[in-house]
Order: sequence, then C-alpha cells, then structure tokens
Amino acid sequence: MSIFLDTGNVAEIKRFRRMGIVRGVTTNPTILLKEGVTGGMHGIEQRMREIAEVIAPFPLSVEVTTRDPERALCQALMFASWAENIVVKVTIHGPDGELENIEVIHELETAHNVRVNVTAMMSAQQCFLAALAGASYVSIFGGRINNMGYNACGEIAKLRQVLDRTGLRSEIIVGSTREVLNVIEWLEAGAHIVTVVPELLKGMLVHPYSKETVQMFLKDAAKAELLFEDGFEATVPPHGLELAVAAGNGAGAPR
Ligand code: E4P
Repeated sequence: MSIFLDTGNVAEIKRFRRMGIVRGVTTNPTILLKEGVTGGMHGIEQRMREIAEVIAPFPLSVEVTTRDPERALCQALMFASWAENIVVKVTIHGPDGELENIEVIHELETAHNVRVNVTAMMSAQQCFLAALAGASYVSIFGGRINNMGYNACGEIAKLRQVLDRTGLRSEIIVGSTREVLNVIEWLEAGAHIVTVVPELLKGMLVHPYSKETVQMFLKDAAKAELLFEDGFEATVPPHGLELAVAAGNGAGAPR
C-alpha cells in the first residue's frame, strides 16, 4: 500500500519526497494547467522531465492530451522516452464513449513495453476491463464516485477481489481524494495506492491535539533548560545523564 502525490508542483513533490512519504506522482492536464505549466508540449516536457528526476525511481504518470487514438499512441511513446519512470495515462474511453483507447492501451503495454495508467474510471467493471487489456495501473476516481451518491469503498473492494482472484497484475490507484479520511478508508477497502493532493497530506499529518501536546512539551522543555542552567553540569557524572537519572541523582533532570 502506498501514497502518490496528485500534483504538478515540484516544490511540494520535493518536500514530501524528502520526508520519505510518497512513492509516486500522478498528473493530468487540469493539474498542469492549475500549476501554471505553459508553452505547449515543450512546457509539459520540461515539467515532466523535472518531476521524473525528482521522484525517480518511483513512477510519474503523464496523461495524453488528444482524443485521436493514433496521436495518443505517438504521444505515449514520446512521453515514455522522456524518462524511464514515466507511466502514460490514457482515459478509459474518448469524450463521447469512443472505444479505441482500449486498443491503444493494449498495444502500448504488449507491443511497446510502455506502462499505462488507465484513468477517469468510475466503476469496478471499467477497471476490470482495463486490467484485462493489460494496464499496469487502473485509476478509479473515489471522490467523484462518492459525489454521484455511490460509495467508492464498495467499488474498490469488489475490484480488488476480482483482480486478486483472476491474478491480474494491475495495481489499483484511487484518485479524486476529497477528504483526509479517504486515504485510509480506500487503502483499507483494497486500493494498492491512493493519490493525494499535497493539502490533504498536510491534513493527514497535522492534528490539533498533537499541536497542543507539542506546545506543552516545548514550554516545559524551556522551563527545564532554565533549571539545567542551575548547576546541571556539576551533577552530571562522566557516564552521562541516563546513568545519573537511573541512580536517582535527578538534580540535572527536573520533572
Ligand atoms: C488521478 O490520477 C487524478 O489525477 C485525480 O485524482 C482526479 O481527481 P479530481 O476528481 O479531483 O479531478
């Protein structure tokens, strides 16, 4: 089970990478637009190469930007050539339900050895078909499913069972996270990966009561340091503070 970052923001990726928390990055055209990626394909290439380097050896998903299947195939091959850890994102079908994308997905995985993340899926049945076509990753949009009035956990659990029973190797990515609690509930339901926007990851980390507790520790540590200054050095034996405390010589370790 792991967490990916759903962003095109390099500073945020670097920050969470330094923490050792994230194991990959997902992007889409909407995210790149929001992050101010300009300059057409050249701009996309620059940003994607930069992120691929920062997140390597973990995967970076880059989405094709065309509805035309032949151009999608060419783009996918080009994206994959930018860096070894690039995974190409292809939507499950075209904007009007055109079916050719599945052929592109199958061809990329089987004939070109390009890893594909099939995206924009709202049901276990769509993901199952993408997995049969050979997708390395199947992305189901948990938040959007919940917004339609269904429970994403149910779809994720069904999908995981079917993939495990059939021995299909696709990994389930659940995206479209809306609430902090989504991350654990979707992993618990059977997701291999949940992809999260940086803000939600911060929300997972920071707890008001943890803050209050840390503040108490620091306040008391400041008081203790003042006490240390009153003769602390004189009472510490050569073996260090632990031994002094164990021996009951607590003069240097106020409570
Ligand atoms: C996943 O890979 C997608 O980039 C993303 O999670 C979509 O989420 P949205 O519903 O916020 O657009």
